[in-house]
Amino acid sequence: MNSPVIIIGAGMAGLTIAEALRSEGFAGQVMLIGDEERSPYQRPPLSKGLLTGENTEAQLQMRTPEALEKKNIELITGVKVTTIDRASHRVHLDDGRSLEYGGLALATGSRNRPLPLPGVELDGVISLRTFDDAKRLIEGLKDAQSMVVVGGGFIGLEVAACANKMGKDVVILEAMDRLMARAVAPLVSEFYAGVHRSHGVRVELNAKVSELVGRDGHISAVRTADGKEYPADLLLVGIGVIPNDELAKAGGLECNHGIVVDACARTLDPAIVAAGDCTARRQADGALLRLESVQNALEQGKSAAAALMGKDRPFVAVPWFWSDQYDVKLQMVGLSAGYDQIVTRGSQAEQKFTVFYFRAGKLLCVDSINQPKIYMAVRKLLDKGGSPTPEQAADESFALETLLQS
Ligand code: APR
Repeated sequence: MNSPVIIIGAGMAGLTIAEALRSEGFAGQVMLIGDEERSPYQRPPLSKGLLTGENTEAQLQMRTPEALEKKNIELITGVKVTTIDRASHRVHLDDGRSLEYGGLALATGSRNRPLPLPGVELDGVISLRTFDDAKRLIEGLKDAQSMVVVGGGFIGLEVAACANKMGKDVVILEAMDRLMARAVAPLVSEFYAGVHRSHGVRVELNAKVSELVGRDGHISAVRTADGKEYPADLLLVGIGVIPNDELAKAGGLECNHGIVVDACARTLDPAIVAAGDCTARRQADGALLRLESVQNALEQGKSAAAALMGKDRPFVAVPWFWSDQYDVKLQMVGLSAGYDQIVTRGSQAEQKFTVFYFRAGKLLCVDSINQPKIYMAVRKLLDKGGSPTPEQAADESFALETLLQS
C-alpha cells in the first residue's frame, strides 16, 4: 500500500488502526486526524468513574502525544476533515489544508441523538460523548440538587447511578416500557429498575418528555405529556447515537445508517477502510450489523489496518459489551435477536445471576450480573461455536468451563 495512510478520527478505533499498522510492519507515514483538541482517550469512564472521581483525567488518556511520536504516528488535533476526494486521493481539512493519501481509514465514530425539543440549548442540558461534555457534567453536578435523565439506556443509567452516589435527587424518564430495551431481556430491565429504585432513584417508564422549562437561561424543570413536572437543575440526555457517516456518504461510499464495510473492514473503494461506531458491517447472510462498543473499535481497527496492508483479518469474535451501575456489573456477550427460550441461573436477590438466551436449543447470548467467571466461560464457548444445553445453563452445579475442554 502507498504511503501516507490518513486516519480520520482519533478515538479508540482510529488509534487502534494507527498502532496496528505499525505492528503489521507498515513503515510509511501515518497521520491520525481528530477534531477534538486532545490526544486519544477512553470514553467508557466518562459516564462512570470520571464523574465520581474514581478515575482521574490522566488515567483516561490512552496515549500521550510523545508516545505516538515514538511510533512515528503524526497526531493532528482540533482539525476536521471536510471532504474526501476519492478521484484524486485527497482529503480537505477545515484549516485549509489538502492532503494526499495512499490509504484512507474512516473512524469517525458516532454522535448523540439530539432531543428534538425547544430548550435543549439551555444551560444545564447536557449530552455525554466527549471529554468536554463530561467536564460540563461534572461542573453541573457540583451545584445541582435535582437531576433528570432522559433515556434509560447505558449512558443514562450509568450517569443516574453516579449522580445518586453523589447524593443528588435523580429521576430517569424512559420513553419505552422498560430500561435498556435495545440490549437486554425484560427480566433484566425489571431487575435494573428495581436496583435504581432501591437506591432512591425515581424511574418513570413510558415517559414522553414534552417540554423543557428554563429560568434565566438555565434548565429548571422537565414536563411530560401526561402533565407531570420534574424539577431539574441539570438534565442529561442519553437517547442513543447516530453514526457519523456523512463524510463517507458525500464521498460516494455506500452508507446505510453507518459506513458499509465487510468483515475485514473494507469499503468498496480498495484504498478506503472504516472501523468502529461509524460502520455497519455486512454479515454473511447479507444483513447489516451496527455495534457501538469498545470491542468493535478494537477488532475492526485491527481488521482495517490489516486490510490496508492487503491482508484478510475478519472480525469473527462474538460481540461483547458491559455496563457498570452502582455495584452491579452487567456483562453481555452475543446478540439476542431471534431468541425463543430464556434460562436463568443464580440469584436476583443476591444480585448475582446470568440470563441465557437460546434459539432452537443453541445459546445465542448471555446477560451476566456480577458473575464474571460465568461470563468469561460463556464468551470463550461462544467464540468456539459451542453451547451448553438449556438444562446445563440452568444447573448451578454444572461447571460451564468443562464444555471448553471438548
Ligand atoms: N425520551 C426518553 N427516552 C428515550 C427517548 C426519548 N425521547 N428516545 C429514546 N429514548 C431511550 C431509548 O428507549 C433507550 O432506552 O433512550 C435510551 C437510549 O439508550 P441506548 O440506545 O443504550 O443509548 P445511550 O444510552 O445514549 O448510549 C449510546 O454510547 O457508549 C455507548 O454503549 C453506549 O452504545 C451506547 C451509546
